Amino acid sequence: MAAPNGTNGTSNGHSRPLRFLIWGGDGWIAGHLKSLLQGQGKEVHATTVRTENREAVIQELARVEPTHVLNAAGCTGRPNVDWCEDNKEATVRSNVIGALNLADCCFRAGVHCSVFATGCIYQYDDAHPIGGRGYSEADEPNFRGSFYSETKGHVELIMKHYNNCLILRLRMPVSDDLHPRNFVTKITGYERVVDIPNSNTIFHDLLPAAILLAEHNEVGVYNFTNPGAISHNQVLHLFKEIVRPDFTFRNFSVEEQAKILKAGRSNCELDTTKLVAKLKEYGYDIPEVHDAYRRCFKRMVAAGVE
Ligand SMILES: NC(=O)c1ccc[n+]([C@@H]2O[C@H](COP(=O)([O-])OP(=O)(O)OC[C@H]3O[C@@H](n4cnc5c(N)ncnc54)[C@H](OP(=O)(O)O)[C@@H]3O)[C@@H](O)[C@H]2O)c1
Repeated sequence: MAAPNGTNGTSNGHSRPLRFLIWGGDGWIAGHLKSLLQGQGKEVHATTVRTENREAVIQELARVEPTHVLNAAGCTGRPNVDWCEDNKEATVRSNVIGALNLADCCFRAGVHCSVFATGCIYQYDDAHPIGGRGYSEADEPNFRGSFYSETKGHVELIMKHYNNCLILRLRMPVSDDLHPRNFVTKITGYERVVDIPNSNTIFHDLLPAAILLAEHNEVGVYNFTNPGAISHNQVLHLFKEIVRPDFTFRNFSVEEQAKILKAGRSNCELDTTKLVAKLKEYGYDIPEVHDAYRRCFKRMVAAGVE
């Protein structure tokens, strides 16, 4: 799907202005996408139509006539992904049936579909150890420790064959506020934390990149994180240094953590070579994750977040 920036090629050869439709309209990431697009002066609509309801999805696409769908709908579980272990059918309905249905309806309607997917489908192994080579987009998912991750890993293997889909693998997303879904809010609120390096997605840097890729009709799978990996302790030390000087925290081991969780959690580093190279084509750079955190925490302080 290639078309000039600002317009979208259509099957009859005409171009029309971009119109974004965000799915999962009431969600956290959806809210950020909507504000970002509005701030850029783009035409944006949001919907809460269930993705698995094929007739309703087709009707919504026909009603809004978007050039681009941003799929930020998904079952993430409340208070966390442990919920998915006990609600497997509902998790499949949203993360497998719904995600594929929306991709397919967009395909049939000639609409580009960006999917806010996850990189929590890998775990460190001998070939990808801590501090070693990160997982590339071509690596098969190898983390099935949670049902949430299992659904996401399976669906990506199918969805990547749709030539209208841009699959963006986010990990441990971080916003510039202390929203409850922010990874920093989560780990600063825990009694004890593990200390493992991971790839993280800082919204300030990555969400504008998502819009850039979508409006250029890029497709395929992208590891969608800041380059590099940062450990929990490094995040918390930076938080203490920049945001909250009296902050303290305690660690525990992965084995101890496993005792308080129903499902396992993915820990891995993603290789961002493909993403960085693609964004360079558009003159867009993403800061390395330690640098990105420093900037993020400084923005928090400047905005009065404590
Ligand atoms: N936050 C993270 O840590 C993270 C990391 C990587 C990837 N992601 C992915 O990014 C996407 C958005 O995450 P988020 O953090 O914004 O989660 P969120 O705040 O829970 O938002 C997800 C939204 O999707 C809606 N939804 C769920 N199933 C749906 C369905 N079948 N049809 C239509 N809407 C549906 C939910 O509505 P209801 O509550 O009414 O069901 C909710 O409003 C998810 O797919 C998630 O897996 C998130």
